[in-house]
Amino acid sequence: MFQSNKKYINFLIQSGVHTFLKETPNKLLENQQNQLKFKEKKDLKKLEEITAIEDLIPLISNHASEIKNSAKRMVLYDGNVNSNIMIIGEAPGQEEDEQGIPFVGRAGQLLNKMLSAINLNRKDIYITNVVPWRPPQNRTPTDQEILEFLPFLQRQIEIINPQILYILGTTAAKAILSTSLSLGKLRGKWYEYKTLRLESPIDVLVSYHPAFLLRSPNYKKEAWSDLQMLQKKLNEN
Ligand code: URA
Repeated sequence: MFQSNKKYINFLIQSGVHTFLKETPNKLLENQQNQLKFKEKKDLKKLEEITAIEDLIPLISNHASEIKNSAKRMVLYDGNVNSNIMIIGEAPGQEEDEQGIPFVGRAGQLLNKMLSAINLNRKDIYITNVVPWRPPQNRTPTDQEILEFLPFLQRQIEIINPQILYILGTTAAKAILSTSLSLGKLRGKWYEYKTLRLESPIDVLVSYHPAFLLRSPNYKKEAWSDLQMLQKKLNEN
């Protein structure tokens, strides 16, 4: 039908075909995605240059980590970036992984009730976790995973610069206070958190994780006393 290859090529180009079929696939979409990834990575700021949480989000989500392979969504934070209180939990669970928001499952509902008992609303607090991806089968993050994400957590603390860090559970206590001591030994006292970039130390209070309180409700008395310590400090400030 076509007299020459040239005519045939012109016909194809005019029909909108700009590439030839080959025995091996062209993978045009994959190449585009790779270019996009490269561009995104190139445009990423360095951790220490970041001064806003929204600039931290692409950096953390691009961070290559085993743990994200089994998770659905990254879960970074919820609440108010201008808050004077920052709550740090362990890692997202199933509900959080589905919604991309920390503390929205049963433990989150208990946390909301605990906060409202001292007249706090979660929307006024900055809420995050040590690890932003759901660990497989909800297992506890390993020490390696805690250390891997620690620089991102530290940067969040420096950016938010709250007056108080309210630490929930042993994983967050380990990350923030660099200790393996039990919650029973750590709770009920104020600590200080410092980094080179913080102008002044931040007050730290450690308490039981709401997921633990759901399993062991007889520890709620101590948790209530910790909440009252938090309230007292807020009233002093
Ligand atoms: N447990 C956590 O530590 N964090 C969440 O976001 C949910 C449950």
